[in-house]
Amino acid sequence: MMLVEKNVPLQSFNTFGIVAKALSLVRVHSEADIAQVLADPALRGTPVFVLGGGSNIVLTGDVRPLVLKVEIMGKHLLRETDKAWIVEAGAGENWHDLVAWTIENGYPGLENLALIPGTVGASPVQNIGAYGVELQDRFESLDAVDLTTGQTFTLDAAQCAFGYRDSVFKHQSIGTAAGKPGFGLEGKALITRVRFALPKNWKPVLGYADIEKKIAQYGREPASIQPTALQIYEWICEIRRAKLPNPEVIGNAGSFFKNPTVSAEQCADIIQREPKIVHYKLADGSVKLAAGWLIDACGWKGKHIGNAGVYERQALVLVNRGGKSNPVTGGEVMTLAKSIQTSVYERFGIRLEHEPVVV
Ligand code: EPU
Repeated sequence: MMLVEKNVPLQSFNTFGIVAKALSLVRVHSEADIAQVLADPALRGTPVFVLGGGSNIVLTGDVRPLVLKVEIMGKHLLRETDKAWIVEAGAGENWHDLVAWTIENGYPGLENLALIPGTVGASPVQNIGAYGVELQDRFESLDAVDLTTGQTFTLDAAQCAFGYRDSVFKHQSIGTAAGKPGFGLEGKALITRVRFALPKNWKPVLGYADIEKKIAQYGREPASIQPTALQIYEWICEIRRAKLPNPEVIGNAGSFFKNPTVSAEQCADIIQREPKIVHYKLADGSVKLAAGWLIDACGWKGKHIGNAGVYERQALVLVNRGGKSNPVTGGEVMTLAKSIQTSVYERFGIRLEHEPVVV
């Protein structure tokens, strides 16, 4: 029997710890629960909001659409090919728990993505990435339910149209921003299960400055060292714990802005004015800038507006300075975000795009 819960507090369901309620909420444990919602005459056709781990959202008020809280569980080795272990996980599984489980069971490949907050089902939506690995590099396919028809469907990597912190799930079907016209699934699908292809000829993905520093601590040349997946997993956990706030202690939603991309000409122009700017050349000739550096350069690190703060150790992360008892509001977070965007635009001429979904 499906239970529609009323006026459900969402504070513990979003990693910022913002206070808001869901006017109606249904916990989804399986495809059958979604079918029941769609078949219910009282609920059919009502707008819905799919909630995963709540680690990439800013709640600016009570949520009026019906909240579908995804609690589809389970993780197992589905099959094996010559090249890969195919691991399948329910959308409601905690992302980091899945990473830890794959490493313990000898299926390497997700170690660089350790400690990213959120759920398995949310991971393809923004194509989570860290330390040189993106979800798309390890993705096999996913199952989802079409929220208008109730039909189940499967998408492979090409159909997910992954980009930097981007996928088909972040675009509407008409007039898509990323030049992928015609096909978008924003608000239209609920991801139920995700499959990962974890390589048998695994090689460590090193090369990131923070990882090279870890290797140097062990007193060896990066080229001569072949760390295990477990070793990298442990390093990534150490790096993230040192640099990023633990949402259980200090509420946050990870990187608040995307790292912006500019053309080579634009970058040359900025470098002339700002020689120290942190930038990386991309394969297509464009240049990615470190948003954290831009925000830091504008003097925002450690600053705050009301209870919305800029984290002291990483300017890209906005935090809840009021804790659970006097938490930040979504309005304060967005006011701080807009002020940061304005200063970065005035100084560098660059528009920062925020990453979390504003609800
Ligand atoms: N920097 C500063 N000041 C700051 C922050 C950063 O000068 O306050 C400089 C750093 O010194 C470094 C550069 O900016 O030279 C980049 O910083 P960092 O290596 O910390 O990575 P990032 O570009 O800020 C991205 C991802 C993170 C991911 C890390 C590691 C985005 C939006 N963020 O951050 O992802 O963990 O790389 O791969 O792409 C997330 O999305 O929630 C997230 C944490």
